[in-house]
Amino acid sequence: MKPVELKNGIYWVGVIDWAVRDFHGYETPHGTTYNNYLIIDDEPTLVDAVHHDFAHISIENISRIIETQKIKNVVINHIENDHAGGLEQILTLIPEATLYMTEKAKKALSKFINIEKYKIKTVKTGDTLKIGKRTLYFIETPMMHWPDSMFTYLKEDKVLISQDAFGQHLATVERFDDEFVDCYSVAELEDAVVDYYANILMPYGNVIKAKIEEIKKSGIEIEIIAPDHGVIWRSHIDKVLNLYSEMVDAKAQLGAVIVYDTMWHSTEQMVYPIAKGLEEEGVPVKIFKLRATPKSVAVKEAWKYRGLIVGSPTLNNGIFPSVADFLTYIKGLRLKNRLFSAFGSYGWSGEAVKEILEIGKAMKLEVLEPGIRVLYKPSEEDLNKCYEFGIAFGKALKEYHAKREV
Ligand code: FEO
Repeated sequence: MKPVELKNGIYWVGVIDWAVRDFHGYETPHGTTYNNYLIIDDEPTLVDAVHHDFAHISIENISRIIETQKIKNVVINHIENDHAGGLEQILTLIPEATLYMTEKAKKALSKFINIEKYKIKTVKTGDTLKIGKRTLYFIETPMMHWPDSMFTYLKEDKVLISQDAFGQHLATVERFDDEFVDCYSVAELEDAVVDYYANILMPYGNVIKAKIEEIKKSGIEIEIIAPDHGVIWRSHIDKVLNLYSEMVDAKAQLGAVIVYDTMWHSTEQMVYPIAKGLEEEGVPVKIFKLRATPKSVAVKEAWKYRGLIVGSPTLNNGIFPSVADFLTYIKGLRLKNRLFSAFGSYGWSGEAVKEILEIGKAMKLEVLEPGIRVLYKPSEEDLNKCYEFGIAFGKALKEYHAKREV
């Protein structure tokens, strides 16, 4: 896709990755984009690079606007491979450019490229760079979501280039939020924001909250938020900021998500009476079988609702592998403020349910013990017990949710 002008002299020169479906283990059914931005001024400046495989496309986009060799500065907001992976290919064309990044970015980048070859200036929050009529203002955002990260704010144009924050994994020809909403819907855009947050940024909620507060207090006016993935925000800025505030506070809807896997359908047979019990209590339920659902989708849904029930058969004295994988994933993402329990069938030792509950405790979730287990195949009596378990979880969930909402 050719460059797109955000504001007079400020261009998106990124690329659309229509094909990526596995983003370091995070399923991306809609692909993504790697956004970078070219600012035309006395000292033409590039903010961020792109994924290694697509650097040539970004270089072509740049060359549609100016001779690449005229770029004087390169700002590196974030050194993760999907943004800095293509940096060297660009720097080969502009070896004399000055690189601006945080001290931590410099240290980390030295592990990827020979930084001795380049002029590097490290910056911290409050530092500015005058490139002509424009001033770039840097804001460090450590652990949002890597230690090296920062934002670049274009003062005169009121454009915040926010690296991964406020991004979405959406491969789309629409470059702006309003264009996307016209073609699709606000709900789809919100869903993409939640999906991205749940799978990438969830562990750093408190850092994000503090940073948003800091930016608001500093009186910075924002007319455009230009992230490094997905559409650029110019019409729904308040919406995305509010959505982030809510996500940071781990707000959740009343509802339960059942995530499970099964060997010979015995654990699966337990799912439906549990769901029936929850419905009887007026609790909406969503059900995800892990071998039929990417874990990133299950995580997004677990993020939206207050209750999480995980089902696993016991295999070789432990948790079924796909369920263990999901639990490792949510543990790393530090899901919080959830009522949690477990169920599953077993043949002889039956450790899985207990182990799942222990993981819930280690995550500091509110754990409803002891969960429910059945031996081999559930009998009618077992299925009734599952229904009763669903009722009990539903009652406890309503109480827990009411307390969290206060
Ligand atoms: Fe899009 Fe943290 O990289």
